[in-house]
Amino acid sequence: MTAGGKDVLDWTGARWDLFSTSAVLRGRAREMAEKLGGEVASGRLPFLSLPFMPELEKRLAELESGLLGRFRHMLLLGIGGSSLGARALQKAFAPGQDLPGHTGKCLWILDNVDAATLETHLLRLPPAETLVYVVSKSGDTIETIGQYFLVKDWLRRELPDDWKDHLLLNTDEKHGYLRREADTFGLTTVPVPDNLGGRYSAISAVGLVPAAFLGIDWRALVRGFREVADPLAAPGLDAAGLAAHPSFEFAVWGKSLMDAGYCELITFFYIPQWASFADWFAQLWAESLGKNGQGSQPIPAVGVTDQHSVNQMFLDGPRNKACLFVERGRSEVDAPEGLPFPEDLPEIFEYLRGRRFGELLPAEALGTRMALCRHQVPLAGMRLSSADEHAAGKLMALCGAATLLTGWLMGINPVDQPAVELGKRLAKARLGAQGLAEEKAALAAFTSGGDAAQEF
Ligand code: PA5
Repeated sequence: MTAGGKDVLDWTGARWDLFSTSAVLRGRAREMAEKLGGEVASGRLPFLSLPFMPELEKRLAELESGLLGRFRHMLLLGIGGSSLGARALQKAFAPGQDLPGHTGKCLWILDNVDAATLETHLLRLPPAETLVYVVSKSGDTIETIGQYFLVKDWLRRELPDDWKDHLLLNTDEKHGYLRREADTFGLTTVPVPDNLGGRYSAISAVGLVPAAFLGIDWRALVRGFREVADPLAAPGLDAAGLAAHPSFEFAVWGKSLMDAGYCELITFFYIPQWASFADWFAQLWAESLGKNGQGSQPIPAVGVTDQHSVNQMFLDGPRNKACLFVERGRSEVDAPEGLPFPEDLPEIFEYLRGRRFGELLPAEALGTRMALCRHQVPLAGMRLSSADEHAAGKLMALCGAATLLTGWLMGINPVDQPAVELGKRLAKARLGAQGLAEEKAALAAFTSGGDAAQEF
């Protein structure tokens, strides 16, 4: 199934025949290559060019042999792009915390404002063994900073002499409340470079510090990322170079789908431990591309679990879905994995005799992939030669670049998220923040509307 142990995007089931705009979109390779070159040259795409990486690599090595090694627990405060990458890496490459008998390091990610959850963490975590990693590029995000206030209070109370040594902040180098905190108290920080948007920042200190803490091979992640990103960031990238890059074909497909009315994009991960990459991708795609009435809704799914929940809708619901199908490629000569089934199986399960548990996953992946194709779901197959950090780095670069290019093909800005600001302002107005007169008036009108509630 793999092409000689390579990582591939397989377009066999992509259904190009359904799309009328693909050829025109492909014809925009020169324009896109020029835009990419300009953005990279002006420093607006550190996500691809990684100018900060040499310095960060040194810093990570220091942290690994110093600060990070001193703690058993890391409590990460962050939301959206400041937490989803770290969670995906943890679940994929340090899944021990979810398995029985875990005695190693623990990463706790608080990306919500549930009062009881925060309280429980503060009651049960041993402060002396805990490093709090606060991640907020803006340094002003209420969900993260709200938690920070309480966690800082907890540290000061529990560890009056050395609370500062238990805080590591990741924030903008100049702006925001968190930066002022770092400067005021002399707290240790790691930088999040200019122009590196949250959802494009997993392969920076944002995701790599937790990865290093957990003992994940972050160097292999970076290596894999670079293999895909470097050609895009290389000076002199021309139309042919971009056209040959899989991120461009992915973007052409993504935009063609939208043009043809496919407004939902399933990401079906048949690597169970990689399920959280589907959530990471969902934020990347949705927050980047949901603009001006355009975009396609990402639907994270994991095989085989979701075969028994949402797959019926994928197969036979509205014909508005496409699928990115991610699996580990296996060749016929690969040894089957997992425990062998016992010999004394009942007659109806006889076909499992002599087989191993690990044979279920690829068989079910094949079955589902083929069923999706049979049901006319346009499908791009991403097959990875191994499910390791190197492959994850490649996937993250490919998905990030494809998202960016899809946005450019759509004529929108894929690195902002203006629509989500309204809800944030309204919540602040509700909490009594200064100013925001317009929002306060709008809230009053909204909450005094007629009561259409129906008891059940
Ligand atoms: O992708 C994004 O830019 C957002 O999801 C942010 O990551 C999220 O809003 C958190 O922002 P910040 O890191 O500034 O706290």
